[in-house]
Amino acid sequence: MIVLGIETSCDETSAAIVRDGKHILSNVTASSADLHERYGGVFPELACRRHIEVLFPVIHEACKQAGVTSQDIDLIAVTQGPGLVGALLIGISAAKGLAIAWKKPLVGVNHVEAHLYAAMMGLEGCPLPGLGLVLSGGHTLLLQILGLGSYRLLGTTVDDAIGEAFDKVGTLLGLPYPGGPKVEQLALSGNPKGYAFKAGNVKKSPLDFSFSGLKTSVLYAVRDKKLSENQRADVAASFQQAAFFDVVKKASLAPQGKALFFGGGVCNNRRLRTMFAEQFPNIPLFWPPVFSGHDLSLDNAAMIAGLGYHKFLANGRGDALDFEAQPRTNKIIFA
Ligand code: KG4
Ligand code: ZN
Repeated sequence: MIVLGIETSCDETSAAIVRDGKHILSNVTASSADLHERYGGVFPELACRRHIEVLFPVIHEACKQAGVTSQDIDLIAVTQGPGLVGALLIGISAAKGLAIAWKKPLVGVNHVEAHLYAAMMGLEGCPLPGLGLVLSGGHTLLLQILGLGSYRLLGTTVDDAIGEAFDKVGTLLGLPYPGGPKVEQLALSGNPKGYAFKAGNVKKSPLDFSFSGLKTSVLYAVRDKKLSENQRADVAASFQQAAFFDVVKKASLAPQGKALFFGGGVCNNRRLRTMFAEQFPNIPLFWPPVFSGHDLSLDNAAMIAGLGYHKFLANGRGDALDFEAQPRTNKIIFA
């Protein structure tokens, strides 16, 4: 079954062609990060304008690279939420239009669940139950994965998402948006013990996360100070260490499964991967694969097409075409 996936939930416009939920034939992504640099975060209106300009060329390119035409496509899958409402609406409207024009079934897919699926899509059978971590610009989730479409939420953030904290710390350090990869880069030459930063604990919810206090500590460390390049690197390394120490600790406190599955842009970080490998030496860790130079931890349409395939099989049909964008949905099951 050939699935066209479409992803427009934030600042990346992506289209992919995936066969049978796991064989990625193409994944084409255009980012509008350049437009947001000067604002220190995604400017929704600008992201939407870019989606409108590039979505059809991106879909066209994905089909071309996969060597398929509209006739070969059996199903269309699109991100339904969560995300920026305007951005979601552009992807959903385009997907509905194509579904009608091409007479193909269409399914709406949950973006967060798709991030987790990215780590599973190449596997021949997943060791389950497992522990899942979604660490992205919009989400910080710790969950138990019982099966595809069956999850139990164990912990989430009560304030900032972890990627959001990286981006804000990046701005405090004078780095352009998105700060995450640049903070990682700067941290490489810094001392992770240079500053005594610590992420928060949430009263009576030991598996929940809080990063706003950590972010404020960074603010106090840099505000009105003329930091040397070495000190800036120490701030980046100490912040990163504190944030990841907290994630690793909470994953260790959670009920353990047969494997750990990771998704979301922050999982692109090498230091995070090393810390998990050190803490969990005897359990398989599954990170999203890289396709054509693009780390599928980051937003991409291949994960949407892959999960869409399973949703279609589970439901035996596509969604009714009047489904709406769900910008804030917390529902992470696809059924
Ligand atoms: O999953 P994603 O592409 O989009 C969302 O669904 O949010 O994640 C983007 C987030 C941004 O906050 C970005 O700064 C962060 O992931 N990120 C990183 C790294 N690469 C991307 N954070 C830390 N280290 C990285 N290498
Ligand atoms: Zn995402």
